[in-house]
Amino acid sequence: MTDYDRFLSPLGRNLHESVLRKMGQVIASRAGDLISFAAGYPDPVGFPWDEFREIANELLSGKDGSVLQYGPTRGYRPLLESILGVLDGRGIKADLSEVMTSSGSQQGIDLVARVLIAPGDAVLVEVPTYTGAIAAFLNAQCRLAGVTQDADGINLEDLDAVCMRERGAGSRVNLLYLVPNFQNPAGSLLSLEKRARLLEWAERRDILIVEDDPYGVLYFEDATSAAETRPMKADDERGRVIYLSTFSKTLAPGFRVAWITAAAPLIERFDTAKQSMDLMCGILDQRLVYESIVRGVLDRQAAPLRQLYRMRRDVMEQALRDQLGGRLTWIAPKGGFFLWTTLPEGYDCEPLLRRAMEEGVLFVIGSAFCVDGSGHDRIRLSFSWPSPERLREGARRLAVAMDRYVGAGFSRPEIVRGGRL
Ligand SMILES: Cc1ncc(COP(=O)(O)O)c(C=O)c1O
Repeated sequence: MTDYDRFLSPLGRNLHESVLRKMGQVIASRAGDLISFAAGYPDPVGFPWDEFREIANELLSGKDGSVLQYGPTRGYRPLLESILGVLDGRGIKADLSEVMTSSGSQQGIDLVARVLIAPGDAVLVEVPTYTGAIAAFLNAQCRLAGVTQDADGINLEDLDAVCMRERGAGSRVNLLYLVPNFQNPAGSLLSLEKRARLLEWAERRDILIVEDDPYGVLYFEDATSAAETRPMKADDERGRVIYLSTFSKTLAPGFRVAWITAAAPLIERFDTAKQSMDLMCGILDQRLVYESIVRGVLDRQAAPLRQLYRMRRDVMEQALRDQLGGRLTWIAPKGGFFLWTTLPEGYDCEPLLRRAMEEGVLFVIGSAFCVDGSGHDRIRLSFSWPSPERLREGARRLAVAMDRYVGAGFSRPEIVRGGRL
């Protein structure tokens, strides 16, 4: 058998795999009765199936050959124009030179990493932060400098201290990555005051902010939340913010249609980098998304989805209280898909996950989100996909796993740092 390792480049040898992909392999191997609180997938019951079917039938009637042709790298122009309208609804004024589509926001993050990160840079991220961003940034061979979070989002004093420490040590620090709305995994909402101060700070310290916003539309508490989720990009007069958003959680992730909004010179660079990645966009998906926007499907989705996920959060919280008493604690998220929970004293997320898998329930270990080696006392529970019955049954299994954790005598010294899931 050929040994392929010796063919690998240094990057190829050190590629960072998404923790959720690894868990996906576990799910596939167990399939059957496993209840997953792991991946942040939308529930397919929330997909507008009838409207999609109707639009797809029309698009695939064969009358218009261009629906299956190559599409422009930047995206289908009518879709880009309709995205300007979506942005306007969020308070963001942009023009066509400032927007492009990407294959999911994940590709947007990867483009940012390719174009703006040099090997050896320090990139500022929250602790905890989104695993997909961790993987994309590390693959650009930077170091990740973690900044603590408060209940109302990133801690600004720590942010400045970390930035200056890194610069003082000679690192280039150009980027701060943030998920201000219902953060993945912490569920936190960045306060409006901090948003304003962050824009000033970015100007003062000469930093670009990557504002990743997949969940802003999915708030649970009516009127006020719409104002509370106002993107920083809406008030970004100096062009400091690279804003990423996606149709994955509001229409369907399978289309892989998302977008980047940033200053025109940056979009030019992202566009060029994207050419060598995928040459062209997936035009059928983009046209389906475009039709969904102009026919009002996207707007009609918002209210029922907010209701669906609020109900799921409520069921999950109640089930955890019923099954676990006060053994898990968390701050109730006001939107999004996740509960970021703290384990009782003495528990560690990795051995608990092994126990939980034996009981048929899955979650993501807290340490996967923490670039500073912390998070072993946390687990992320996603409530978006399992039905209410499965949420309750999963909570029951988690309770059994926690009981057995103690019974099996797992203890902290058993932790394998950096061990695989
Ligand atoms: C914070 C965050 N950013 C980006 C993504 C990727 O979204 P997309 O499906 O658009 O690639 C996710 C998906 O879960 C996410 O939680």
